Amino acid sequence: MWSSRWLFVLAAAGSAVGLGNIWKFPYITGENGGGAFVLIYLACVALIGVPIMMAEVLIGREGRQSPINTMRLMVQQHRASPAWVLIGWMGVLAGFLILSYYTVVAGWALNYIWQMASGRFVDVSGPEAGAIFDTFLASPWQLLFWHTLFMMATIYIVARGVLKGLEAAIRWFMPLLFVLLFVLVGYAVTTDGFAQGFEFMFAFHWEDVTANTVLIALGQAFFTLSLGMGAIMAYGAYVPSNASIAGTVGIIALLDTLVAIGAGLAIFPIVFANGLEPGQGPGLMFVTIPLAFGQMPLGVLFGTVFFVLVSFAAITSAISLSEPALAYLVEEYNAKRARVAVSFGVLSWFLGIGSVLSFNAWADLHFLGERTFFDTVDHISQNVMLPLGGMLIALFAGWVLPRTVVGAQLGLQRAWTNVLWKILCGVLAPLGVLAVFAGSLLG
Ligand code: TRP
Repeated sequence: MWSSRWLFVLAAAGSAVGLGNIWKFPYITGENGGGAFVLIYLACVALIGVPIMMAEVLIGREGRQSPINTMRLMVQQHRASPAWVLIGWMGVLAGFLILSYYTVVAGWALNYIWQMASGRFVDVSGPEAGAIFDTFLASPWQLLFWHTLFMMATIYIVARGVLKGLEAAIRWFMPLLFVLLFVLVGYAVTTDGFAQGFEFMFAFHWEDVTANTVLIALGQAFFTLSLGMGAIMAYGAYVPSNASIAGTVGIIALLDTLVAIGAGLAIFPIVFANGLEPGQGPGLMFVTIPLAFGQMPLGVLFGTVFFVLVSFAAITSAISLSEPALAYLVEEYNAKRARVAVSFGVLSWFLGIGSVLSFNAWADLHFLGERTFFDTVDHISQNVMLPLGGMLIALFAGWVLPRTVVGAQLGLQRAWTNVLWKILCGVLAPLGVLAVFAGSLLG
């Protein structure tokens, strides 16, 4: 068990804060037109994400096992249909899929530690920064090398049974990450793109909203909070019984949102000040941030530290992607943690090669419409599996678990708090997901 509630906050925040905040949030905000997307994303985090995160923690703490076995136990105890255990299995698969490309992008961050330290970005122009990134992406061997290195680091840490060892890392890197984001936002304020960047992120225009924007915002809310695949449920199994779930989840969601908004506020002013394209896609952070550090005094130092921190943030997230699967395999087959970690990691690494190639050799290979291999795996996991998993988790916690169990876990003592929970988790969260699915299917 975590020695205290704070350890859980650190681990869950370590899972939540990652590439989703610093890399993905700005780039999909850019692709989806800015302000309207940000507002819908924030609403999804608060109204759907927070209740579902509470549901994951409470189910995890009630079962105190891997998500699959926790769901088996819950189904037995409360005489529910065994079909609910699918939540656990789908989560294992979603974690596997996400990990496969997550380590590819995390590999880019690793490479950038090196590139920043070598001073390659000092005083470069926007197009030059873009060209450095494009050259890097065009080389499958380079991408494969960094993908492999990052996957090896992840496997090494999870094989050793990690969670505790990471505590120190998280305790140090999180505050530092905040400081560096602050430096970057401070820099962004001084550029002449700030007003435009701010406006881009926060000006709401209805005409920008389509059913698909809402689906992407919802998927992003799930992704950034690590929801819908049992990662938080797996960590929830170690939360001490006396910790307040609502308070803890609130802190995690707040920290996570602050990092995402901070990253956006740092990146968009730089985009506009340098005449770059906000909708340029996955390269956004890898072009703008080095550009900013390249223009700053002490930029080589700060920039290197920044990418070290991003890599740390990514590894604490990558670990949580594998946790539901590894916890289950260890529990069920009494397998050695190291052995299952290597098997899971190698398989996911192998699938990741498809994502590596989708930026170069397979760039013209399309699936599900216009999507590259990378976009396809990303879309299916983030925009389909996570919301679906989250919806099922909310329905389970809202309707299948008895009120007494939920009330005791959440410390709901009054009738109205019980009703509020039922409405949020049992009705609004699942309906929200359903509405978004329906909307995007209908186009
Ligand atoms: N939340 C992490 C990020 O923002 C990624 C992540 C870790 C994740 N664990 C997850 C996403 C579980 C979905 C489900 O980078």
